[in-house]
Amino acid sequence: MTAAGGDAGRGLVHDPLRGGTFRDAVRGMFQAALERLSADGVVRIAAEDLPGLVDQVRETADPKFGDYSGTMAMALAKRAGLKPRDMAIEIIRRLDGGDLFEPPTEPVGPGFINLRVREDALARAVVAALHDPRMGVAPVAEPETVVIDFGGPNVAKPMHVGHIRSTVIGDALARILRFRGHRVITDNHLGDWGTQFGMILWGWKHCRDDSRFTADPSAKPTAELTAELARLYRLVRKVADAKPEELARDPEAAALAARYPDTGREVLAETAKLHEGDPENRALWEQFMPFCRAEIDRIFSRLHVSFDHALGESFYQPMLAGVVAELMADPAVGARESRGAIGIFLGGEDAPPFLIRKADGAFLYSTTDLATLKWRMEHWKPDRILYVVDSRQGPHFEQLFATAKLWGCGDRHRIDGVELVHVAFGTVLGEDGKPFKTRAGDTVGLEALLDEGVERAGRMQHAGDKPQPADGRPQHDGDTTQHAAEGRPAMDAAEQRHVAEIVGMGAIKYADLSQNRTTDYVFSFDKMLQLTGNTAAYMQYAVARVEGIFSKGGIDRAALRQSTQGVSLSTPQERALALELMRFGEALEDVEIDYRPNVLTAWLYELAGCYSSFYDALPVLKAEGAERDSRLALCDLTGRILREGLELLGIGTVEKM
Ligand code: ARG
Repeated sequence: MTAAGGDAGRGLVHDPLRGGTFRDAVRGMFQAALERLSADGVVRIAAEDLPGLVDQVRETADPKFGDYSGTMAMALAKRAGLKPRDMAIEIIRRLDGGDLFEPPTEPVGPGFINLRVREDALARAVVAALHDPRMGVAPVAEPETVVIDFGGPNVAKPMHVGHIRSTVIGDALARILRFRGHRVITDNHLGDWGTQFGMILWGWKHCRDDSRFTADPSAKPTAELTAELARLYRLVRKVADAKPEELARDPEAAALAARYPDTGREVLAETAKLHEGDPENRALWEQFMPFCRAEIDRIFSRLHVSFDHALGESFYQPMLAGVVAELMADPAVGARESRGAIGIFLGGEDAPPFLIRKADGAFLYSTTDLATLKWRMEHWKPDRILYVVDSRQGPHFEQLFATAKLWGCGDRHRIDGVELVHVAFGTVLGEDGKPFKTRAGDTVGLEALLDEGVERAGRMQHAGDKPQPADGRPQHDGDTTQHAAEGRPAMDAAEQRHVAEIVGMGAIKYADLSQNRTTDYVFSFDKMLQLTGNTAAYMQYAVARVEGIFSKGGIDRAALRQSTQGVSLSTPQERALALELMRFGEALEDVEIDYRPNVLTAWLYELAGCYSSFYDALPVLKAEGAERDSRLALCDLTGRILREGLELLGIGTVEKM
């Protein structure tokens, strides 16, 4: 078992004053109480049942019922033949709140056990977080090595909207797991060897347009060659597919299809020649590759996404024959021939095998993935590998993981000892609810999409739109002079472009990350650029607004942090904000349990709402003395946590909007 799943909370520091979460602390208390309950003979609880029961301790939805609530009395009562309420009383008797929680008194409803954090403990935890560069979030006690395989575009094929999801989700997970203290290795498994090269090679030989680029790579920017390759790819795909409706819309493709009726077969032959080491195709591939890679790097760097490695499929080519031989020799895997091809029979004779070599000798996507897995095990020795890939590849990963399990018997690398996870995601849909396409029916190019997002963000700035509170109420300001960010200070053109880039990119990323990853989502610029509701712009504005207070008040934040030795949480708004701030670590832990970044976006949105309620109800800059410092300290921590939270999602912030 790894840190994922129900065990994620344990092994952490249980003291919220040392970076543990209150939830860990309360779960630890319940665990001790349940152990005592079992030892006392009230109800027998097997050690392996404990984690599941303790995980039932959750944040309460309504503060009137305390801050955390345990529901296990109901299930345990059934086993012991007691009334749930009586079982709850037995548990409460054994619960020791220590100096973190108010002593629980009696169960609520059918047997809920509710606990409330002591105000002094909460205040001390806030001060500890204020002084902590990690804002009160301790690293996991048992860090793991986690490989995250994401991005993975097929080179020389233009990147499209579908590539956003893997890139954005994978990058957010990498940042979050790294922040949690894991050793994260990111690898961009580029498709740099696939059948698309057959199309490009065929196109290069039959219909390239030399006037669109120059053969001298140093003379012109790389974009011209890659643009020509992308044009060839699109054109040849139509010629090879020879679909009448597509050809009807494209006279150039139609003319080529008439002239070369056998293109489909010839394209396959070009790929096969490349794979067999044909010198001409190999040389062309080597000529194209640096340009293709530079083009991909350019787009990823525009997205502020970087990788530790981008080994790509071609890297594993020399290993494929050896892997097939090894899988055939390994009796536990039992790869064997069937009608000329070689496959692994995972589901018995009737189910389709996992093919690792075609009858014509060609290796497949599966063969490369097996070689990749073996290489990663040998070189990186990971505890976990996450594959952030479209859910439509589910069957491939099921077969890959099943094979890995059988293959674990080898002694040089223990493939069965690694946790393999397909972090699957749904499709990006257009506003018509169908897969997102351009009017002409092509997939939407990624670059054009990013440009449009940035351009629209820029237009929005000019229109002078202003965010409203999340609930749409007009804002009641405790102190209207605090709104440093609201005066819409003049920006020069360069600054405006910078802000538009951050807001536009942020909107696209956040819209994706705030969806439950497994569902399809509708791509809508109008929705994602809205300044109200759970959007990047709203969150970015919240940061600018919180932090604007410090410039407005001329306050040195570092000095404020240093000098703050206590905070006062006497109003419900201050207490609620403080408690929410202390849940940052819980939100990050919950992201990791199921690899869902939307858990973090939802929590950040809640935090922004909590802050709004605090700010609307209470004066900050106009407060006085210790009260002012205490509220400013809460503002400082809110700003830092919102900013860090967005950063962990790969989303930038600005000082002014
Ligand atoms: N290039 C693949 C595609 O576009 C994605 C690669 C995913 N990673 C992997 N190890 N299979 O479908």
